Amino acid sequence: MLLSNRRQFLAGAGVLGVASVLSKGGAYAAAPKAQDFDFIFFTDTHIQPELDAANGCAMAFRKIRTEKADFAIQGGDHVFDSLGVPKERALSLFDLYYKTEQDLGMKTYHTIGNHDCIGIYTKSGVSPSDPLYGKRYYEDHLGKTFYSFDHKGVHFIVLDSIGITSDRHYEGRIDAQQLQWLALDLAALHPAHPVIVVSHIPIVSAIDSYVPRPAEPETHHGATVVNSSEVIQLFEGRNVLGVLQGHTHINEVVTWHGVPYITSGAVSGNWWHGTRLGAAEGYTVVSVRNGKLQTRYETYGFKSVEPQNT
Ligand SMILES: [Fe+2]
Repeated sequence: MLLSNRRQFLAGAGVLGVASVLSKGGAYAAAPKAQDFDFIFFTDTHIQPELDAANGCAMAFRKIRTEKADFAIQGGDHVFDSLGVPKERALSLFDLYYKTEQDLGMKTYHTIGNHDCIGIYTKSGVSPSDPLYGKRYYEDHLGKTFYSFDHKGVHFIVLDSIGITSDRHYEGRIDAQQLQWLALDLAALHPAHPVIVVSHIPIVSAIDSYVPRPAEPETHHGATVVNSSEVIQLFEGRNVLGVLQGHTHINEVVTWHGVPYITSGAVSGNWWHGTRLGAAEGYTVVSVRNGKLQTRYETYGFKSVEPQNT
């Protein structure tokens, strides 16, 4: 596309600061070609001392270690739970997670999940002024909650989909500051640049079609990202190979405008109670081949001590 057309396109996107991105380089460089490689997307480990969960995570990590993969991405919900428990319990869960993740032996990128936010629920007894409250602990120990990186010609974007609400709950949301960052991050790329996006709470999913509606109207929508349309429009005209998602603990692919929104089953299955809507405990092997994504779900043989299969 000609630069003049590109300027029009970006102006139409209404993105502040895009002109400065363009003025630095003057024109887009050619898009890189994605090399072939594999990585692991494992999500919803929900580690805890109960339900044999730490052993389950260790089993999963030991199997992941045997995969021929360049790195791993943890899709969020490292622990169970830090939303509604005293901070001592939350910290002990994160310590258990770090200790167990050592079995992985692989470079791992992290994604924030709702259960990784400390003390959000008032029942936790944690004050919002506490230095560990909300996302502060995660930012101090696991890093930025949204960021991008590059690997073998693919631009990876990891999003923070956890919108903390003023009444101390959460909803799925990509907030305004992050949307602006995302628009700029994408604008710096050639339109054909291969991109893979990660979001804990699904941006697109049909999960609400698979489960009964809640008896009471929900105060906040936590199953998917409520402002998904604002995110999706930034993917139009881009070479998004796929969006990897967690949170619902199911295996699902919904394709919209050529982009597969791939939700992976959980390492914890049905929160360590067996299968979740048919998805057993496992993780997803993601292969980039000829500039496209292929995925394979792998189980690792965990047997729940308290099965409640769905
Ligand atoms: Fe989860």
